[in-house]
Amino acid sequence: METNKPGLAIMTSGGDSAGMNPAVVCAVEYATQRGYKPYLVYDGLKGLIANSIVPASKDLVSGIMHKGGTALRSSRSPEFFDITFRTVAYQNIKSHGIEKLIVIGGDGSFRALNQFYNDFEIPFAGIPATIDNDIAGTDYCLGVDTALNVIRQSIDSIRDTASSFSRAFVVEVMGRHCGYLAVTSALSCGAEVCLVPEIEYNLDTIGARLKAEIAEGRKYIIAVVAEGTKMGEYITRYINDSIGMEARLTVLGHVQRGGSPTVHDRIMAYKFAVAAVDALDAGETNAIMTFKDGTYSHLPIEQVADAKYKLDPALLKLAAPLAC
Ligand code: F6P
Repeated sequence: METNKPGLAIMTSGGDSAGMNPAVVCAVEYATQRGYKPYLVYDGLKGLIANSIVPASKDLVSGIMHKGGTALRSSRSPEFFDITFRTVAYQNIKSHGIEKLIVIGGDGSFRALNQFYNDFEIPFAGIPATIDNDIAGTDYCLGVDTALNVIRQSIDSIRDTASSFSRAFVVEVMGRHCGYLAVTSALSCGAEVCLVPEIEYNLDTIGARLKAEIAEGRKYIIAVVAEGTKMGEYITRYINDSIGMEARLTVLGHVQRGGSPTVHDRIMAYKFAVAAVDALDAGETNAIMTFKDGTYSHLPIEQVADAKYKLDPALLKLAAPLAC
């Protein structure tokens, strides 16, 4: 084991997602192996300002691997946009001898840490973690697989009532402006309809298709709608009033963010955490960990923050028939 490296702090920031805890565990273990003195920042960016920073100990990170959310807690902090508060944060981390940071979160958190780097030259490595899967440059963000399994289980249950009661169910899923969760769920759950911001949809043709299928014997309908379309209530009324099938809307909401991380999320958390420590060790100053086309790598923050995530065209092609 190497020794005598400076303090390296690990924090979670922004919306929590399953996989954050395994990433914290692994980052602490691997940073220790690489000779760093690991610290934990509680409460995200707010905790940097409030000095909620403690040396990592086995006790603090044991028994959290299987838990959803983040044991370090998280926050969104408007104060961090203010240099006065960032200066306080800098003084806090310097007082602990911390010279590097790992932030597990979304691109808003990465931008905040990049501003901090520009101000005070504290290098950071970002681990993508958001159920939205909307970070440019990476095919995967921690929490996505767990969220998809929660959605899959929910839709499977809803199908029981839909089929028993000959009803239509519109299921609204999260994702902010991104349709990844909706497209993947619609395909894997066999939905009849999928509305996402990335695919142009046509309610008239969807309606005509569904009416024809009902005439042929279809007894129930499952429609998956991305929250970014803001179409949940509208399409529920449309199916009820224009297609003539009793329809209900289920907004899955924050249940999608929770739950014990799946095996996939745990393993991805390990890979990203090792990559983050290695990137900092190699002298990277503001790199975001990525998993692209089956390969782990990292990108400078600018290439992540200034680009827009694009949903896989092959996936969109598969889902296109569900929008017309
Ligand atoms: O970014 C994760 C996410 O869960 C989005 O899918 C959703 O739009 C948003 O956060 C909800 O934010 P909040 O937890 O602040 O209501």
